[in-house]
Amino acid sequence: MNIGFAGFGSMGKVHAYSALSCRYFFEKEGEPPTLYGVCASSYEKARSYAGEYGIARAYRSFEEMVADDEIDAIDICTPNIYHFDEIMLALKAGKDIYCEKPLCASYAEAERAAEAARDSGSVCGVVFNTRFLLPVMRAKELISAGRIGKILSYDFSFLHSSALDTNKTGWKQDRRYGGGVLYDLGSHAVDLAEHLCGRIESVSGKSQIAFETRRSFDGEDGWRTNADEAFYLRGAGRDGAVGTIRVGKIFHGTNDDFRFEIYGTKGSLSFNLMDPNFLKFYDAEADPLTRGVTAIECVGRYPAPATGFPGIKAPVGWLRGHIGSMHNFLSCAASRKTPSPSFDDGARNLAVLDAAYRSDAEGGREIKAGDD
Ligand SMILES: NC(=O)c1ccc[n+]([C@@H]2O[C@H](COP(=O)([O-])OP(=O)(O)OC[C@H]3O[C@@H](n4cnc5c(N)ncnc54)[C@H](O)[C@@H]3O)[C@@H](O)[C@H]2O)c1
Repeated sequence: MNIGFAGFGSMGKVHAYSALSCRYFFEKEGEPPTLYGVCASSYEKARSYAGEYGIARAYRSFEEMVADDEIDAIDICTPNIYHFDEIMLALKAGKDIYCEKPLCASYAEAERAAEAARDSGSVCGVVFNTRFLLPVMRAKELISAGRIGKILSYDFSFLHSSALDTNKTGWKQDRRYGGGVLYDLGSHAVDLAEHLCGRIESVSGKSQIAFETRRSFDGEDGWRTNADEAFYLRGAGRDGAVGTIRVGKIFHGTNDDFRFEIYGTKGSLSFNLMDPNFLKFYDAEADPLTRGVTAIECVGRYPAPATGFPGIKAPVGWLRGHIGSMHNFLSCAASRKTPSPSFDDGARNLAVLDAAYRSDAEGGREIKAGDD
């Protein structure tokens, strides 16, 4: 498979690394993919990415890249505001698509993109890489096997500290590029909450802007902050589960603190990405003499077809989730299967996020996810 990268900033490089790493982590299933093409915000940037990372071709525009018959799959790693147009052009050109989260910059766009993907012959996946973290995979297994019973309550948080520095503002903090922490970090938290705890039927939300002004993405001083720096969401599920989700980039002492606690009728689970080798499990049905929170080692023991590279005792990190996510997409593309997470999952995700924004705008009223 020849991959063409749209954007090669932080995520373009992570995806390239993941695509090249799959052969070490998984049983050999065919030829490894080729980093074939790249386009970026300028031709100069695209050329320098191509030179530095051994990518065969640099293009002047996205349009030029999708017109290249040699490219099989487009990997979308651009700011969110560009995703929709890129998806539609790539589908028209018959390419498979691996698209970063959030799928698009609104639920309305995401619904159209998911519908177009369904009507096409393309294999389309969205990057919810946290599903492929090993403790998360173990949590899914335990929940599916009924080990914590019926889920009653959960709490997810994804906390960073980067927005505390008001002199450094990225496009992810600017609504004009599809920024805001709910879209940026909340997309992961909402996806994982639904993946593990079931569909969120209705939400209420509250956004927070702690710093009214900051230096803008374009370098303008005293720029008025236009996107949420933190967001607080409450979600209610069909079967009675109630959850809270807190995301933001204004939390001192945090780095990449993605945590969850899930409470069921028979036990509970908890996880923190800063401690990625372990899933904590409390089994309320265990022998009272030894009952207590167990730290389940997840380390290098990956499910098939993984090889346990570099060894079953080796500790894991965040990149392992991206390698798993990329492998999932590549093997689905090879067998022409719709991957999970799919574009439908990406659209579903934006249904919840946009309902939370609407709730915030309407004073915190509870809103059904997916209502227009
Ligand atoms: N899944 C994850 O773990 C994760 C983490 C961070 C970001 N993301 C997502 O990845 C995507 C990219 O984020 P990033 O952190 O790599 O951003 P970035 O700013 O580091 O890189 C953006 C890239 O897009 C290019 N670009 C900008 N405008 C373009 C245009 N009009 N056409 C083509 N290329 C253009 C830039 O040159 C740059 O190479 C976003 O959708 C973001 O939400 C996902």
